[in-house]
Amino acid sequence: MTLGPEELKRLVGRTAADEVRDGQVVGLGTGSTAVYAIARLGQRIKEGLSIVGIPTSLATQQQAKEAGIPLATLHDYDRVDLTIDGADEVDPHLDLIKGLGGALLREKIVASVTDTLVIIVDERKIVERLGTRTPLPVEVVDFGKRQAVEALRKLGCTPALRTRPGGIPLRTDSDNVVIDCMFPSGIDDPASLEARIDLIPSVVENGLFLGMADLVLVGTPTGVTRLTRGG
Ligand code: 5RP
Repeated sequence: MTLGPEELKRLVGRTAADEVRDGQVVGLGTGSTAVYAIARLGQRIKEGLSIVGIPTSLATQQQAKEAGIPLATLHDYDRVDLTIDGADEVDPHLDLIKGLGGALLREKIVASVTDTLVIIVDERKIVERLGTRTPLPVEVVDFGKRQAVEALRKLGCTPALRTRPGGIPLRTDSDNVVIDCMFPSGIDDPASLEARIDLIPSVVENGLFLGMADLVLVGTPTGVTRLTRGG
């Protein structure tokens, strides 16, 4: 029997949650794949697992609370043992684009202090070159969004302010806006692009997660493939 997209998400989410060990501080990612990992962690807690979760968004915080996961924030801990999160694209170096779910800022902060970052995706998200399947989200302070759009355009992309149905700009959990940047033939040099984006006034964070993922669990119709940095 071939697994559909939702079953693949459930499979990788569950597999990642089963990597978690007693006593760990666990970063809880955001998105439609991460929800399965959080649900499974809730189940394991009922079976006796003892962990503390650090949610990466208000939506995840709500789900984790309902699942019975004890929660903390980065004010309580210097480091996070293991984080489970989704991604929008994964390239052969395990570099990522994240942020289509609008939570890239807190996700990146948590990832940056995480010892083992576990990414869960289905195989449609595996790309040869970043930026070929999805736009690159950039979180920007609302005050300077018009100028940020023009500065991003000069970097070679087609920028679009993300809106909610009805055309109102979407606000992130930190009350910023998101500009989605579509690169016509993908991103040439992600590290240099990231450096240039970060120089734009108003930019708070970008969705490039370079050199951060330690393990990528890929859901395929025949099971879970494990990709680790350096093979
Ligand atoms: C949210 C993210 C998500 O992890 C990413 O968009 C993947 O989400 P999904 O599992 O729903 O496809 O980066 O900011």
